[in-house]
Amino acid sequence: MHSELKFEKPVYVTSPILPDLGKFNDMLRAIWASKWLTNHGNMHAELEKRLESVLKVKNVSIFNNGTIALLTALKVLDLPPGSEVITTPFTFPATPHCITWNHLKPVFCDISAESMTIDADMIERHVNSQTSAILGVHVYGIPCDTEKIEMIAKRHNLKVVYDAAHCFTTEINGAGIGTCGDMSMFSFHATKLFHTVEGGCLTYDNSEYREKLYFLRNFGIKNEDEVVDIGINGKMNELQACIGLLNLEIFEEEKRKRIAIRSTYVEQLQTVSGIRIVHVPEGVTDSMGYFVIRIHEDTFGLSRDAVYQKLKEYNVFSRKYFYPLCSEYEPYKSLPSSSEENLPVANRVKREVLCLPLFGGLGTAGAAQICEIIKRIRNS
Ligand SMILES: Cc1ncc(COP(=O)(O)O)c(C=O)c1O
Repeated sequence: MHSELKFEKPVYVTSPILPDLGKFNDMLRAIWASKWLTNHGNMHAELEKRLESVLKVKNVSIFNNGTIALLTALKVLDLPPGSEVITTPFTFPATPHCITWNHLKPVFCDISAESMTIDADMIERHVNSQTSAILGVHVYGIPCDTEKIEMIAKRHNLKVVYDAAHCFTTEINGAGIGTCGDMSMFSFHATKLFHTVEGGCLTYDNSEYREKLYFLRNFGIKNEDEVVDIGINGKMNELQACIGLLNLEIFEEEKRKRIAIRSTYVEQLQTVSGIRIVHVPEGVTDSMGYFVIRIHEDTFGLSRDAVYQKLKEYNVFSRKYFYPLCSEYEPYKSLPSSSEENLPVANRVKREVLCLPLFGGLGTAGAAQICEIIKRIRNS
């Protein structure tokens, strides 16, 4: 332990952006005057409109969190009850939970060793007469192989939904990632680059979904006399929409700071043997949500878990996203597709990945300090 390198206060993997309190207060005054607190108010409408241009998509429907948004996406697509949805185990539990809450069955497909997203070459071996959809996750903002997935979906008449929780402003060759598939979900949780404290949205090309989602988000209520669907309460309130509007003004500044921090990490860690830095592929813009390294135990000399523990001694709290795999969790572990033989790559990758702190307030000096700690850990 090199105590001179220990951070005085805990350094977590992220820290939220926060708008100017004075500006927030001004907006609250407008809300106080209108007494319109929720149920599709002006701030809500304004945020949806602004997000359509920021995310470069045709339609945005915002929700009170990403999970409810994803739940509603699978609902609006009208997949046959009991049908199978092919997905990845290398994700946050919300992904398979949304499938299961819709009375659909998750089928886990292995991931690609390079992108760590669902392995498109493995998807078809899971397709059968019960399959209704593919739910891919652009993990850490690395896009799934959307072209191949679209081809497979066409061939077998499947719907495609993307969990784009990590992808705020990710673009593929200049196109918003939310234009892929039938529908994409973005999370605006406080841990994300852009947030509304809790929140999320769906993006989609087919404008016919807009009205259906509007009803589904509000208990299925169409008007005072009609409830047309089994809806949920997925509405974002006006206070959170305000935070969103104000955070839209500052997230780019945060992104610039994160880009500088990322450069420091890359510069200092790229030559450390046993560490592989995860990059987005060429043509893709990095959403700057995560800085991920993969630790090769034999070459580095220590396991990922050992590095994770040792970093804690220095007050650095990294995260092992995504370990364990969703297929290992109690509700899913007995599924045939959860077997280790079906998921050899995911079971290897889960032991390698480590997310290091990435937030503007860390500064490049903070990132350099973390790199130094990692180098000392390696040589100790
Ligand atoms: C991949 C992924 N999907 C879904 C979610 C859930 O989003 P929310 O927290 O907005 O409900 C998260 C985490 O926040 C996530 O990382």
